[in-house]
Amino acid sequence: MFADGLMRGQKILVTGGGTGLGKSMAGAFARLGAEVVIWGRRGGVLDDTAAELAEASGSTVTAMPVDIRNGGAIDEAMQAIFDAGPLTGLVNNAAGNFISPTEDLSPNAFNAIASIVAAGTFNTTVAAGKRWIEAGLPGNILSIVTTWVWTGGPFTVPSAMSKAGVAAMTQSLAQEWGPKRIRANAIAPGPFPTKGAWERLMPAPLMEKTGAGTGAAGIPMGRMGEHEELDNLAVFLMAPGCAYLTGEVIALDGGQWLASNGNFHSLSALDRSDWDMIKGAIQATNAK
Ligand code: HXC
Repeated sequence: MFADGLMRGQKILVTGGGTGLGKSMAGAFARLGAEVVIWGRRGGVLDDTAAELAEASGSTVTAMPVDIRNGGAIDEAMQAIFDAGPLTGLVNNAAGNFISPTEDLSPNAFNAIASIVAAGTFNTTVAAGKRWIEAGLPGNILSIVTTWVWTGGPFTVPSAMSKAGVAAMTQSLAQEWGPKRIRANAIAPGPFPTKGAWERLMPAPLMEKTGAGTGAAGIPMGRMGEHEELDNLAVFLMAPGCAYLTGEVIALDGGQWLASNGNFHSLSALDRSDWDMIKGAIQATNAK
C-alpha cells in the first residue's frame, strides 16, 4: 500500500510497543524505514520485540523499559531519546483496562486505569512536545483512543473517561501547538482482538455466557479489524505527506459505532423476501 522507504528519516516512539497493536504499528513503521523506539513495562518482552522487528525490517528498533505511570521516568527516558537524536513522531498506544460494574470500583481501581491512559499519555506527550518546541522542530502525535469517546463506555468508565480526555487533548493541542508545526491526531479502533485487551474485556466466562467478543454482530463490515488495517492508517497519519491533517479523531471500526446508534441496525439481517413482505405491509396501511 505504501512506497518502500516512505518512513525513512522518521524516528517514532511507540508506547506499549512490546505487544499487541503497539507492536504491530511499530513493525509497520520499521518496515517502511523508520527508526523506532518502543516503551513498555516488561523489559524482556520489549527486548524480544525489538530484536524481532529489527531483524524483520533492517531498521533500528530500540527497547526502553518505561512505565508511563511514572512521570519522572518518562522525562528521563525522553531526554535520553532526544540526546541520541530528536523524535519526529510519538504514538500514544499504552493503555490499561478491565470491565467492572462502576459501583464496584475503588479509587485505586480508577487510578490503575487513569494513571496510564490519561496522566501517562499527557505526560509522555508533554515530554516530547516541550522538546520539539524548545528545539523549534516539527512534531507529530498520534493517540490510540476508542469509539467510547463518542458513546461512553458502560462497565469501562475509567477507560472511557480517560480516552475521552485524550481525544480532548488531541483537539486542544492541534490548535495550541499547530502554529509550532506539531500535529495531533487520534485513531479510535473498534474491535481489533489482542491478547491483552481481550483477556480483560472479554474474559472467558463472559464469552461463554454471552458470546461477546466472538462474532461480528453489530459491525456493518461484518468482521473484526485486521492489525494491518490499523497499521496502514497509523502510517498514513505519521507519514510526511500528511502534514495538513490535524485535530482529527478517526474511527476505524467497520462502521460499528455508527451502527450502535438508532433503532434499525439489526435490520441488516433481513433478506429480499423479508423486505418485500415489509413493503407490502406498510403500503397496505396507506390504502386504509
Ligand atoms: C474491579 C479491579 C479489577 C477488576 C483490578 N481492580 N482489577 N477492580 N474489577 N477486574 C482493582 C484492584 O482491586 C485495585 O484496587 C486496583 O484495581 C489496582 O489493581 P492492581 O491489580 O494493582 O492493578 P494493576 O497492577 O495496576 O493493573 C491494572 C492494569 C492491568 C494496569 C490495568 O490490568 C494491566 O496491566 N493491563 C495491561 C494492559 C491492558 O489492560 N490492555 C488492554 C487495554 S484495552 P484496590 O482498591 O483493591 O487496591 C483498551 C481499549 C480496548 O484500552 C477497546 C476495545 C474495543
